[in-house]
Amino acid sequence: MSDLSDPRPEDEPALDWRDGGVPVSTRFNDPYFSLVGGLAETRHVFLDGNDLPARLVPGFHLAELGFGTGLNALALAQVAQVPIRMTSFEAYPMSTAQLAQAHAAFPELADLAFQLRKEWGRTQFQVGQVSLTLVLGDVRQKLPQWAGMADAWFLDGFSPAKNPQMWHPDLMAAVGRHTAVGGSFATYTAAGHVRRALSEAGFDVFRRPGFGRKRHMSVGRLRG
Ligand SMILES: C[S@@+](CC[C@H](N)C(=O)[O-])C[C@H]1O[C@@H](n2cnc3c(N)ncnc32)[C@H](O)[C@@H]1O
Repeated sequence: MSDLSDPRPEDEPALDWRDGGVPVSTRFNDPYFSLVGGLAETRHVFLDGNDLPARLVPGFHLAELGFGTGLNALALAQVAQVPIRMTSFEAYPMSTAQLAQAHAAFPELADLAFQLRKEWGRTQFQVGQVSLTLVLGDVRQKLPQWAGMADAWFLDGFSPAKNPQMWHPDLMAAVGRHTAVGGSFATYTAAGHVRRALSEAGFDVFRRPGFGRKRHMSVGRLRG
């Protein structure tokens, strides 16, 4: 797929909707975000975990594994006061209707979510101060070919047990190679094999209190 035209119905990711508004992937049997507060989880894990928005300067480059509903991108756009870039990798893009159903749970993001859905069909567009690029396809092929360098990463595949390809040591090594000096990552998981892979990829890895029922999460900075 070179551009993100709305997927045909048979190509949409199959979803169940839990607790009213949380999409759950049928393929991976896992929710796209926390069942106990998606936006609060994003702020705790991905924004605070990367010391954002404090580190944002014009041209700052955020990268993400797993665009999903775009919730992380919208939460970032909500706090970005300067022009920044974000590149997100996604193999199974949702349809506009699926996005709209997911976004309905976050009324405070409604204006930004509307901007995102209006542009859905392009792979490069603007949401607030965020210049967003979507890289479509399996990240295991796409990330090694990527020419960019990220200042911070949102590592947001489905859980390592259900989506192991998003946490494979080779992929974590590619994340490390595509991280700028002083760059960081944050992720909701504290799985030992993921933490080891990120350490081998060149990061100093730290455990932090997790969100909701998760006791721990992980953050890291690329070693100098
Ligand atoms: C937990 S969800 C991401 C949630 C998202 N960050 C949000 O804000 O809604 C994980 C995402 O990873 C994507 N994914 C799973 N395996 C992938 C792969 N091999 N390559 C690229 N994307 C993949 C899924 O389609 C899903 O959208």
